[in-house]
Amino acid sequence: MREKLKPVCPGAVEKLETASHFVILLARTGLRFDSEHLARQMKEIQHMPENVLKTATDSYKKFQERKQILDNERTLFDWASKQTYIALGNMLTAAALIGIDSSPMEGFDAEGLEKLLAEEGLLEDGKFAPSVLAAFGYRKEDPSRPKTRQELKDVVEWV
Ligand SMILES: Cc1cc2nc3c(=O)[nH]c(=O)nc-3n(C[C@H](O)[C@H](O)[C@H](O)COP(=O)(O)O)c2cc1C
Repeated sequence: MREKLKPVCPGAVEKLETASHFVILLARTGLRFDSEHLARQMKEIQHMPENVLKTATDSYKKFQERKQILDNERTLFDWASKQTYIALGNMLTAAALIGIDSSPMEGFDAEGLEKLLAEEGLLEDGKFAPSVLAAFGYRKEDPSRPKTRQELKDVVEWV
């Protein structure tokens, strides 16, 4: 699988060769307020009663319209994809806390990767598409240059 991924993930070739674990985060396609998935999520996972379900669906509708999420397939997928970055952030932080290095990556050909994953039967007939990549592992050696960061005071403003 790693060899197949290399041509469609040019930004991840090095990590595909060396990382202990390589994660492809997928986002749902068609995640509209009136989608079957959202209805099932609210009913079966969140156990919402019918009347609450209707209000929640209306709220999602307003939210998605106001934020222009429903404009086209791309805006809808980008919104779904944004949600996966919350999971991504948690994965990176959790890994760092237990001494595991990670690397988030967007260096992939979206169409090519989607085609490959579909051929491998991993996208549940188009219900999902790739959002972002992350590699995890222990460093073999320390970086040759120490990490440099902007100062906290230059990136955070308390008001
Ligand atoms: C939007 C975005 C896309 C990135 N894509 C790649 C990528 O395709 N391949 C890669 O090796 N690094 C990529 N990186 C960089 C690494 O994730 C990089 O190690 C990280 O941003 C720096 O993290 P650090 O400050 O903890 O070292 C990307 C970074 C960003 C912000």
